[in-house]
Amino acid sequence: MNTFSKNFFFGAAISSHQVEGGNFNDWTEWERTSAKLKIENAKLLKWPDYILNNYPNPLQEENYVSGKACDHYHRFRDDFDIARSLGHNAHRFSVEWSRIEPEEGKFNEKEIEHYREVVRALRERGIEPFVTLWHWTHPAWFAKRGGWLAKDAQIYFSRFCKRISGEFKDEVRYWIILNEPILWATDAYRLGKKPPVSQSIRKFLKVYVQLVRAHRNAAAALKDINKDFQIGIAESMNDILFPALLKPFVRYFRNLLFISLVKNRLDFIGVNYYRPFRFQSQKPSHASDMGWEIYPEGMHHLLKDLKKYRKPIVITENGIADARDAKRADFIKNHIAAMRRAMNEGVDVRGYFYWSLLDNFEWNKGFWPRFGLVEIDYQTLERRIRPSAYEYKKIIEESKL
Ligand code: BGC
Repeated sequence: MNTFSKNFFFGAAISSHQVEGGNFNDWTEWERTSAKLKIENAKLLKWPDYILNNYPNPLQEENYVSGKACDHYHRFRDDFDIARSLGHNAHRFSVEWSRIEPEEGKFNEKEIEHYREVVRALRERGIEPFVTLWHWTHPAWFAKRGGWLAKDAQIYFSRFCKRISGEFKDEVRYWIILNEPILWATDAYRLGKKPPVSQSIRKFLKVYVQLVRAHRNAAAALKDINKDFQIGIAESMNDILFPALLKPFVRYFRNLLFISLVKNRLDFIGVNYYRPFRFQSQKPSHASDMGWEIYPEGMHHLLKDLKKYRKPIVITENGIADARDAKRADFIKNHIAAMRRAMNEGVDVRGYFYWSLLDNFEWNKGFWPRFGLVEIDYQTLERRIRPSAYEYKKIIEESKL
């Protein structure tokens, strides 16, 4: 049975800071100052030749500085031509707050126009835009005022969301307000792995509450602008492979708590699924270049878990770092098959976005992990479509039969 309706969304996702290049935000400053330490840490690990033979590699400073990235800011039309040639009918991207409001309260019309062009370019190619409003980066001024810990944070973020959604009220229907709020807050405030590099449980909890409020406030503001907007979140979820006694507890706090707190302000639930979370971590026999276990069955479990919310679900990210493109085609095939099984069992899934359209800047790890359907040569910025992208295209074509 073909579970896919004609208007099922198949595409890929990207985020502004990871591909655009030329950004100036809270990350850009931190990237330079933290690069040396990251290289020292990378020297302690054993790297395979196929990673070290690439440019940039984990032992080079360029790896950790986003710089011009993929120059997607200037090449988006070419990149969307590729997406269309691969059969995509939807695309997820984020608007960069630091470009649009480089100084507090001063909105840059030229940058708003840029994103208008981006949306237009997608529509001209028959591709539905899914717009993320917050994908982990902040204007430098917002960070200096204390970021999400500051009293005014809500006012600033809501004002930005209102402005952008107002500008695109007739062009964009699907909005994702926050990308992986818990994972980001954990890394940035509890584990000190992302800026502002804090390790405080008190701050983490405060930021968690702030992000719940940010979603609720922004969602209300967006619905005031257009009640037909479809509002979602992209939440990172792991299949929890824990003993039965602990499993419900871990699953609730890791996967479901944030969703439960904002569910009244969600039209759809976005799931970012990469890997399971095991009680006893072992070296997986099937893993990505980053050592992440490949476990498609987890997709099926997660989707079944989410059925109780009775909301449409979109897979907003699912992907693998695989520089040699040896595992990606099977990864996509098997995860889509698991998704399809859940759909056959009554889960209402409306779309699937592979992460990512392009190789990109993988945050604190830098450029070496290669997630793209399209390979980027970071010296020439040449794009090369990987064979697995055509396998994904075949699945998309078959789904329309
Ligand atoms: C994030 C992406 C990231 C990807 C792979 C997600 O956590 O939303 O920005 O590149 O996973 O790590």
